[in-house]
Amino acid sequence: KNGLQVAIDGPASAGKSTVAKLVAKQFKYVYVDTGAMYRAITYKTIKSGTSLDNVEAISEIVKNSEISFQPGEADQRVFIDGEEITEAIRQEDVTNSVSAVAAIQSVREELSNDQQVIAADGGVVMDGRDIGTTVLPDAEVKIFLIASVEERAQRRYKENIEKGINTPLDELQLEIEARDYKDSHRKISPLTKADDAVEIDTTSLSIDEVVDKIASVITEKL
Ligand code: C5P
Repeated sequence: KNGLQVAIDGPASAGKSTVAKLVAKQFKYVYVDTGAMYRAITYKTIKSGTSLDNVEAISEIVKNSEISFQPGEADQRVFIDGEEITEAIRQEDVTNSVSAVAAIQSVREELSNDQQVIAADGGVVMDGRDIGTTVLPDAEVKIFLIASVEERAQRRYKENIEKGINTPLDELQLEIEARDYKDSHRKISPLTKADDAVEIDTTSLSIDEVVDKIASVITEKL
């Protein structure tokens, strides 16, 4: 093995991807954004005009799609079937539909399988909802990141303003709560803390403080 498997799970906008990227950089591990994979399938579903309740058609889409990542300037670039969708998958239409697509069994099976292949040799930091519970149940390091919903909405709001998106704060908070509810209440591998995960509440911590805490958990296991 070329390093550990590090699983970082938690609710929407808890800061998972921000800290996962920094932790990966520090240990020279590969960062895998599994949410982007669910978002990619959701993007393709919407673009093809497929209804979100057409489970059969979405199963075909997930079987016949090629998702890939490339390093980018700030964020990792995301592609589906060669088309760049880095920005498209962060738009409201995808964000509001992704939990429905992520609840479909065939979608979860296909993407979890891909994620297991990517992580097989270790040296990976993977963020998502079910990494420590389902995708990598034997991961050496499991982190569960939480933060108050008010703080998470605030963070998303600031990020949005920088991108020129002006969704009101209260609307963002409702969106986050709705998505967490759906992700925590679906039948297959719902969002839940693994028994052996280390929980970190990031509400009043800086990014560096969270990264340091995770780094010390990793260092203990090396
Ligand atoms: O992490 P992000 O907010 O980009 O994830 C988008 C959505 O993808 C989540 O709200 C959830 O529905 C789904 N997801 C999932 N399992 C994962 C990662 C993401 O169901 N491991």
